[in-house]
Amino acid sequence: MAILLTVNGSPHEVDVDPATPLLYVLRGELALNGAKYGCGLGQCGSCTVVVDGEAVLSCMVPVMLLQGREITTVEGLGTIDKPGPLQQAFIEVQAAQCGYCIPGMMMSAHALLRRNARPSDAEIREALATNLCRCGTHMRILAAIRRAGELMQAASLPEPDEGRAG
Ligand code: FES
Ligand code: FES
Repeated sequence: MAILLTVNGSPHEVDVDPATPLLYVLRGELALNGAKYGCGLGQCGSCTVVVDGEAVLSCMVPVMLLQGREITTVEGLGTIDKPGPLQQAFIEVQAAQCGYCIPGMMMSAHALLRRNARPSDAEIREALATNLCRCGTHMRILAAIRRAGELMQAASLPEPDEGRAG
């Protein structure tokens, strides 16, 4: 059955069983391999993407529920040449070790920072509670998310001389 998905702002028609989990469609049909298969059971967070602003475990959601909704994957946060604030911050802080969990971490962080650009450590921990990292780089991940919030705020502030007459 043809299903119309909007991923990172682009429409995609996929012909799959409507019960197929979004993760399989992203990786298998759309070649978007940023979201990772970890457990396939909703327990590790490595497959996290953002749907209509909310972090969602893509291994648990059938594509039939996603028609007409905005799906964002880690590929939608920026490019190698032009990384977005989260990607820039994770690189700056060197927050990845093996990196397998990082796309999911970034997407949970993306959902959080969209609603709160200055989260406390407790709020970050809560938002990322379902994202597991076996490598133990948790403190750097916290630092990277705080830094991304700063970068986002700086990007949304007016230039120092903006609005000044002559
Ligand atoms: S692969 Fe989806 S939660 Fe583990
Ligand atoms: S960086 Fe390896 S699992 Fe998180």
